Amino acid sequence: MEKISIPTNTMRIISTSSKGDQSKWHVGEKWVKQNARGYEGKAEVLASLILACSTLSEQEYVTYKPCEILLPTGETVNGCYSQDFRGELQEVTLERLFEANFTSTDSILNNKALSSQEKFEQIMHHVEIVTGLDARAVISRMLAFDALILNEDRHTNNILFLYNPVTQSWQIAPIFDNGLSLLSDEKDYPPGKPLTILKRKVKAKPFNSSFTRQLALYTGPAFINKTKLLHQLEMHSNEFGRAKQVLLSQMNDPIFDHLFFEGSDHID
Ligand SMILES: Nc1ncnc2c1ncn2[C@@H]1O[C@H](COP(=O)(O)OP(=O)(O)O)[C@@H](O)[C@H]1O
Ligand SMILES: [Mg+2]
Repeated sequence: MEKISIPTNTMRIISTSSKGDQSKWHVGEKWVKQNARGYEGKAEVLASLILACSTLSEQEYVTYKPCEILLPTGETVNGCYSQDFRGELQEVTLERLFEANFTSTDSILNNKALSSQEKFEQIMHHVEIVTGLDARAVISRMLAFDALILNEDRHTNNILFLYNPVTQSWQIAPIFDNGLSLLSDEKDYPPGKPLTILKRKVKAKPFNSSFTRQLALYTGPAFINKTKLLHQLEMHSNEFGRAKQVLLSQMNDPIFDHLFFEGSDHID
């Protein structure tokens, strides 16, 4: 496994995660994250493996790789890293986009009179006013993916838009920050407890706490090649521990059948 040394004076990045205690660093072109509550790194790596077996292009998601992190203290810890996806583009989170142009997303997301569908539509409508982008298909597909991996951290700072100041144009950022998924938080989801019980405890974000409700926002085609994914999981048979078990159990749930197609297991 790759080893990444954190130079002594590298700034730690302040976390925006809802569980907020994962150490991260920007070292050269690499963004490095340390496991804090369990196997977040394995969950990130497995999440990108799923997307590598999907119809999404490589630009539509961030690829995470496992690594050992050598801390300035001399300690070695586990985590993962990704290559920079931003370059010269400016990043504007969904939350920031709202705060700069309207009010916080809370006025929509916390409005009990609105259904998930209405909240989604209103948020996407406002995004379109500011950016000109119709993000509905791409964001709802991400929410379907989040439901599959039980991602509990898709808050409004983990939905991101990129602005190009030169061309004055907007794009949707690749899917990133999927580490709090697949029951990776072993503090909240202790190893040894039955998966069926633990899975029921996980809450979705940001439109509804129910994964099923957020999954229903996606009406597009199947996008994950099941044949290829199962083949990949076999090839990486021992690497992913419980993360893989959780994924296989999710894949057996018929509510996700429409996300999968049977295809060739050809790896690009
Ligand atoms: N590969 C990357 N390219 C560019 N920016 C990144 C990358 N990975 C992380 N970041 C930046 O660091 C922030 C925190 O990373 P993230 O993976 O979201 O962790 P967390 O939200 O758990 O702190 C992101 O919101 C983004 O600004
Ligand atoms: Mg984040």
